[in-house]
Amino acid sequence: MTTRVICNVGELTTNDPTLGDESMFGRIHDAAFVIDDEQVLWVGRNGEAPDADEMIDAGGAAVIPGFVDSHTHLVFAGDRSDEFEARMAGRRYDGGGIARTVAATRAASDEQLRDGARRRVNELRAGGVTTIEIKSGYELTTDGEVRSLEVAGEFSHERTWLGAHVVPPEFASDRDGYIALLTTTMLDACAPHAKWADVFCDRGAFSVDEARAILECARTKGLTPRLHANQLAHSGAIALAVDLDCASVDHCTYLEDGDIDLLSASATVATLLPGAEFSTRSPYPSARRLLDAAATVALATDCNPGSSYVTSMAFVIALAVREMAMTVDEALWSATKGGALALRRNDVGHLGVGACADFAILDAPRAAHLAYRPGAQLVASTYCANR
Ligand code: NIG
Ligand code: FE
Repeated sequence: MTTRVICNVGELTTNDPTLGDESMFGRIHDAAFVIDDEQVLWVGRNGEAPDADEMIDAGGAAVIPGFVDSHTHLVFAGDRSDEFEARMAGRRYDGGGIARTVAATRAASDEQLRDGARRRVNELRAGGVTTIEIKSGYELTTDGEVRSLEVAGEFSHERTWLGAHVVPPEFASDRDGYIALLTTTMLDACAPHAKWADVFCDRGAFSVDEARAILECARTKGLTPRLHANQLAHSGAIALAVDLDCASVDHCTYLEDGDIDLLSASATVATLLPGAEFSTRSPYPSARRLLDAAATVALATDCNPGSSYVTSMAFVIALAVREMAMTVDEALWSATKGGALALRRNDVGHLGVGACADFAILDAPRAAHLAYRPGAQLVASTYCANR
């Protein structure tokens, strides 16, 4: 196996509290690290790096762990930019456009779906993302959901079955019939193609009781639960997520104090998706209240054609800092280590010894530039050992 030393790193963020400044960000200035084809072998001061077969000179730039985008809906067809324009003109987002994407996705060929997903994966990668969770949820038939998960599987092992996104139009007058399909035939067919099960538990989608039944059933088929919750309204969905020990509860736009207490006492990560609030002109979630209560916070793109057609984690960080009062370091941690925890992964989201050799070299001397220079392409190169 070839070894490489990445030297002359002006500012290295490792997220390993045993390294560097020994903060949770494990920051080292004038650093170097050594990798092989798979993992990090050594991390330390530039002048102390051991020999390696090859050298990458970072030229004084900042290096960060690869971003972990723990919430995306990359497999879809069609365009909903007209809905975005209508929202910017004052219309409210209610998830109603999902049916349009379902129709377009059902009508797309395998090749069209694959090409669209590939294009979005490439955009994410160019922006420093090295781990991507991908959900199904825009076909809502047994064969279609399997197809979406198969397409997702060409790009990631972190696949999530979201058959319970909304009730599709053909079941509009037979809601129970769709839930019966979800929990029997569809789940049996999809479970072998996924690791996670998700439900859109919100106003206009699935109720707390329905979500519980679907996720409990998914767990018996070997899937681990996660949940879309409180994007559109308050509900008991946060309590449900904690009760089911969901890996993550996502959106959290509307939170009561009791929800924050529950999250901070649990292993369920609160995944915030400020691209959705940006794109739907909604109030941003209370990241500060969650962090001050010591809840674990992740940041992700929620890339989807309706509420957040965002493929830049740097943009998400800039929003988190500017609009949600997160510090740059907190936002960077949440977009890397926080995302890893939301996927219950210890091997990504940090650059300690033994971690996957996944990192991004920035075209900037400090990671703070990610928020300081919004809109600039600051990821010079992305290295991804984790497939
Ligand atoms: O995470 N909230 C549900 N699902 C997506 C949006 C889906 C859509 O509008 O197409 C989300 O925001
Ligand atoms: Fe989502």
